[in-house]
Amino acid sequence: MPVIDIHNHFFPRTWPDLAARYGTPNWPWIKHTEEGKAEIMVGDRFFRQIYSACWDAEVRLNEMDRDGVEMQVLSATPVLFAYERPAEHALDCARLFNDAALELCAQGKGRLKSLCQVPLQDTDASCKELSRCMRAGHLGVQIGNHVGERNLDDPGIVTFLHHCADEGAAVLVHPWDMLGPQRMPKYMMPWTVGMPAETQLGIVAMILGGAFDKLPKNLRICFAHGGGSFVFLLGRLENAWQHHPVAHGVCELPPSQYVNRFSVDSAVFDERALQFLVGTMGTERVMLGSDYPFPLGEHRVGTLIRSSSLPNAAKDRLLGGNAVEFLGLGKGAAPAAGKTALGDRTSIAPQGEQLTYSSYLKVPELLKLQHPQSSPQHHDELLFIIVHQTYELWLKELLHDLDAVVTNLRRAGANPKSRDEVYEAARLLRRCTEITRVLVEQFTILETMLPTHFLAFRGKLEPASGFQSEQFRELEFLCGLKDEKMLRYHRPTPEAHALLERRLREPSLHDVFFDALKTMGKLHFDDKATERERFDARARAVLSLYRDERSNRDWIDVCERLTEFDELVVSWRLRHIQLVERVIGVRMGTGGTAGSSYLKLTLDKKFFPELWEARTLLTE
Ligand code: HEM
Repeated sequence: MPVIDIHNHFFPRTWPDLAARYGTPNWPWIKHTEEGKAEIMVGDRFFRQIYSACWDAEVRLNEMDRDGVEMQVLSATPVLFAYERPAEHALDCARLFNDAALELCAQGKGRLKSLCQVPLQDTDASCKELSRCMRAGHLGVQIGNHVGERNLDDPGIVTFLHHCADEGAAVLVHPWDMLGPQRMPKYMMPWTVGMPAETQLGIVAMILGGAFDKLPKNLRICFAHGGGSFVFLLGRLENAWQHHPVAHGVCELPPSQYVNRFSVDSAVFDERALQFLVGTMGTERVMLGSDYPFPLGEHRVGTLIRSSSLPNAAKDRLLGGNAVEFLGLGKGAAPAAGKTALGDRTSIAPQGEQLTYSSYLKVPELLKLQHPQSSPQHHDELLFIIVHQTYELWLKELLHDLDAVVTNLRRAGANPKSRDEVYEAARLLRRCTEITRVLVEQFTILETMLPTHFLAFRGKLEPASGFQSEQFRELEFLCGLKDEKMLRYHRPTPEAHALLERRLREPSLHDVFFDALKTMGKLHFDDKATERERFDARARAVLSLYRDERSNRDWIDVCERLTEFDELVVSWRLRHIQLVERVIGVRMGTGGTAGSSYLKLTLDKKFFPELWEARTLLTE
């Protein structure tokens, strides 16, 4: 696994006199003091001591070799953002440093990549500059955590972030222009106290201000310095959100539900802090970031992660695996030179941006998703996990196809003369029945597990239960079996809860099928009809289709496929009960039900009872 540092900085060896160029004072400039050393000045004020690693690719590469770092993704520094200045000056300044970054990268033997900067006070100019930079070879953008009074939930900034998602640009948020300068004049407090608070503020603003709800999930955004104080104080934020309406903001979910929408770097300098960070964010959302080559950076890049007691697989992710995904390198979305993003040093990115079997199917990621709970690991637990995961994958495909069936039937109802949609619905339904047949069969694999073997690790699974399969419930709701009470099993996962609530509200496959028969003039009942009368009317509508086979072949085909699907789902329920009895007898389930005797009550459930009723009517 390559080691990639996503947070480090550069300064070019020289740049134009910005104060003279724009006719305004207090721009940063570089004062070379001796060979390989310089000072960054802001107007007359000393800002920072730097050394040649800032501008000399050779020095950087040597130090990367010393530290075992394959790739650096460098950014300019916030002192150059110029968000408080006229936008045209900030844009010109951004262009100068963005092009200088690429020049430095060009000398980096494929191991130096860059993030650009933009004039964030001007949304249009920022979007244009980002697009230009992405074409030129930058991998994304570094932005500050605010523009004056505007936080990251500001509509203009949200628009820009949307554009980043569209462009596939990785976003690194760096704190800057720290609050309370009058109270922090000394001791580097703006860096040690102000910066973590600024970063926390940036994340909290995005969550409570609803920015994450508006932004697409494919936005790749990372906050520097471990996300500042955010992770440590998330519990406080959550408590306020749960108990004080005034602290709610406008977000759809509790704050803790948004930690899967962003990443943080590892620049926290303390193993306990790193462990806590990984514990809260997850191993997929922390990436090596060093702040190299500044004095506040990690002196031997990667040491904190390498020397930690995190499992090796987690270390690999933090050191580089996550960055490959964050930067879009795994997709071959890399360098302008047309070479692989990681040069010759790793086989992670396919050569010449060519897709491979593994990179397309995400095989390495897939194979890392099995995490047995038993310790020492029980041999059969892997089978238990894989069988369930396979079910969930097929459920995903079923939902995908059934949604398309709904769309086709809706169109068929709207345009009864066209037969294409009815044909397409029947074709997709046939796929659904074939998948369900496989799902019924699959239980036999699990039945190769002895009951004693399951009992050896069953205790580790409580209180997880099949009841919590959100896709299974989604399938029931989508087909028309809507039982609001089942939502209670999804309270611990608000996202699933919200999705199921939506499915509850939406017209089901059952609704759409009968609506279509209505618009075709096959189904009649008036508004005053009782539920029983409506049911009978629906059954008679189906009957009328079967009675005129020559005119309704395509619709009869849909009816037959729906009936078969219903039948197969009941077979699934029955086989599941047999499996349950074979493995745990008549014990209670981990979800708290009476086990098989409860499950037997579900055998009478049907998605399309009218299709079955029509059969009784046909024989009369
Ligand atoms: C050793 C294997 C299994 C046992 C002992 C078992 C046991 C149970 C029990 C007792 C229930 C009732 C709820 C409860 O109290 O927890 C249940 C529900 C459920 N199980 Fe399983 N199960 C097994 C395998 C599977 C597999 C492979 C799947 C595949 C997805 C599955 C999916 C479900 C679903 C979707 C429900 C909810 C059913 C409904 O609400 O009608 N189970 N399971």
